[in-house]
Amino acid sequence: MRITYVRDMSSKNPAKRNKKVRIAIFASGRGSNAQSIYQYSLQKDSHFKVAAIISNKANAGVLSFAKRKKIASQFFGRNAFYNSETVIDYLRKSKIDMVVLAGFLWLVPDNIIKVFPKKILNIHPALLPNYGGKGMYGHHVHKAVHTSGDIKSGMTIHFVNNRYDEGQMIFQSQCLIKDGATPEDIASSVLNLEHHFYPQVIDGVASRLV
Ligand code: GRF
Repeated sequence: MRITYVRDMSSKNPAKRNKKVRIAIFASGRGSNAQSIYQYSLQKDSHFKVAAIISNKANAGVLSFAKRKKIASQFFGRNAFYNSETVIDYLRKSKIDMVVLAGFLWLVPDNIIKVFPKKILNIHPALLPNYGGKGMYGHHVHKAVHTSGDIKSGMTIHFVNNRYDEGQMIFQSQCLIKDGATPEDIASSVLNLEHHFYPQVIDGVASRLV
């Protein structure tokens, strides 16, 4: 499946806009995508602002990044996510319009999905519907692609529903796997695509909400 992304520039004169879409990034790890998304958001004509970073890992690198950049950030454990309204309350209080998953390893609970219909994005480091589902994350994905002998990999950006990696696809981008490439080489090519395209796709979706 090949999807072409068209940036919607209609009536998006920044001078006429007085509001940026407030996004919350959910991440479990180092947060290299969170960093590229944040960097993109600083552009004057971007349609979104990183208003909060949330992690389910108290010592995640992404939380240190948030602190360095003075972005509001918060750790929430399993109970807060799955047995309470704590996360939703935090998102409401922070006036969040849209949620962006960037290496977030838990399933988003139904109550959050209901509050943000078609407003939660995820990125997956493979060409879905292949190499997705529970347990398919990080190096597991790249190892599986490597073992399969496929000649290409890539990344997929999709809306989030209550099943792993199954929400409606928005964008895919591919890279060729060279002969002799290791799973680490594949991971690095895919990550480059992620850093390049994820912020732009977020901006495109945000532009529809402004
Ligand atoms: C990325 O490869 C993303 O596709 C996947 O998890 C990884 C997160 O990396 N969902 P980082 O924490 O953004 O560096």
